[in-house]
Amino acid sequence: MIKEITIFPGIDKSGRKETFKYITLKAGETVSIVGPTGSGKTALITDIELLAQGDTSTRRRVLINGEIPADEIRYNPAMKPIVMITQNTKCFADLTTEEFLQIHARARKIPDMKVVRETIELANNFTGEKIKSDTKVTVLSGGQTRSLLIADAILIGAAPIILLDEIENAGIFKQEVVNLIQNAGKMVVFVTHDPVIALLTRIRIIMENGGIKKVLHQNETEIWAAQNLLELDKKIGNVREELRAGKTITHDFLAVNFA
Ligand SMILES: Nc1ncnc2c1ncn2[C@@H]1O[C@H](COP(=O)(O)OP(=O)(O)OP(=O)(O)O)[C@@H](O)[C@H]1O
Ligand SMILES: [Mg+2]
Repeated sequence: MIKEITIFPGIDKSGRKETFKYITLKAGETVSIVGPTGSGKTALITDIELLAQGDTSTRRRVLINGEIPADEIRYNPAMKPIVMITQNTKCFADLTTEEFLQIHARARKIPDMKVVRETIELANNFTGEKIKSDTKVTVLSGGQTRSLLIADAILIGAAPIILLDEIENAGIFKQEVVNLIQNAGKMVVFVTHDPVIALLTRIRIIMENGGIKKVLHQNETEIWAAQNLLELDKKIGNVREELRAGKTITHDFLAVNFA
């Protein structure tokens, strides 16, 4: 059981020690990591993924439930409590989507194969172009692959910690992902350039020059702002879907969507 992870400071790109004492992230919590391009966001979640022990370029250390994780937890993929989905994540098995999920569900000893159908349905809530159960995982697009793996991590995977590196760029419907994830009871860390995702998470980590500069907690005004931005985001999303479908924006469309 993972109750929390604790991050201890390392060094930034200039070799200066990070100034926080430690950061504790609890089970079920949502976290975003924000900061300029190249500021070390991916490096930070990679430290979490690797359960770094001062052995990465950042020199950070990550503890689980206050303890140094056993080698088995660090190095045995089956024992690993963490799943990371990045822009480059791909499935390399010569399997259909259905077979791929079935194998995972069986490995997790989930007897009811209904979960396979539900996972594909959930993934299809995240993406535009639908995934079919007989599509080979190797031919899924980048966005479809990430959608499938997020749905798989939520519904089938045992990992209590999910790390997502810039899912917004995959054309994934992010509000669906964030809503669902907030109810999944997992710790989810979003590396993001998206203000809506950043405002929807409870904790915000700000990066600069490879170091953690600040840790902020979501305030009431931000929750309100996030709700408003979601409305706006939905409008942008609707327009995006119209354009993707080859339609033109008409007065009727505006009357319905911008009322
Ligand atoms: N504390 C650090 N010490 C040394 N190198 C670092 C540190 N943090 C990050 N780096 C290196 O700096 C480079 C950029 O970092 P990273 O890829 O994490 O940035 P990013 O914030 O994810 O950028 P982007 O928004 O473009 O994805 C990488 O090569 C990374 O290994
Ligand atoms: Mg990055």
